[in-house]
Amino acid sequence: MNDSGQVEAVSARERFARFRAADSGERLFTLPIVHPTRPTGLCPCEGSALKLLWLTAKVAVARLLLALPFNAPKVWILRRLGARVGRNVHISAGAYFDPLFPDLITIEDDVMIGTDAKIMTHEYRMTEFRAGRVLIRKGAVIGGFAVIGCGVEIGERATVAGTATVGRDVPPGAIAIGNPARIVQNSSGRQP
Ligand SMILES: CC(C)(COP(=O)(O)OP(=O)(O)OC[C@H]1O[C@@H](n2cnc3c(N)ncnc32)[C@H](O)[C@@H]1OP(=O)(O)O)[C@@H](O)C(=O)NCCC(=O)NCCS
Repeated sequence: MNDSGQVEAVSARERFARFRAADSGERLFTLPIVHPTRPTGLCPCEGSALKLLWLTAKVAVARLLLALPFNAPKVWILRRLGARVGRNVHISAGAYFDPLFPDLITIEDDVMIGTDAKIMTHEYRMTEFRAGRVLIRKGAVIGGFAVIGCGVEIGERATVAGTATVGRDVPPGAIAIGNPARIVQNSSGRQP
């Protein structure tokens, strides 16, 4: 990488570190890239072999605990990894939380997360890297095998149907079904 490339990588890292640390309500971080196969300088998967081994070990332990039928170890490991998890949150066995940036996940009180649901906090597009906070509001239900994309907010007491893929916010009390998910019912019980 040339000098200007290095300067760009450093400033992107600083910008990303500020995004992760701040609680400003900023939801999405974007970085232009040449192609998803090229290093961004932001992924913990880039770096020394030792760093990569440490990340792999951490992810393996997390996935092992998340596969268990007991709730407490799942909540514990998510909090250890930096996610914010409220009270009375139930996480079903096999749920997947993006291991690269779990600190961008907030799950409020009384949320139910179904089996094998996936919560993603980063994605690569052809010419853009994105990382985003995922906020699952109080009392929401995430169906089994659903996928929640980065930067998405699931509103209070909203339901994401089993297998739905959600790339946009789901309003409070709404039901989102399908792939891509569509809102089939709002909080008044009527079709939107
Ligand atoms: C979405 C859900 C809440 C049902 O909501 P509802 O308002 O009662 O919806 P209905 O059952 O009346 O279905 C409404 C429509 O969506 C369809 N639908 C329901 N669930 C669906 C799903 N998961 N995927 C795709 N379509 C679905 C129905 O077939 C129906 O289609 P139609 O209008 O063409 O007949 C429920 O199906 C669901 O997915 N709950 C989550 C279950 C789960 O995964 N729990 C966790 C287990 S660990």
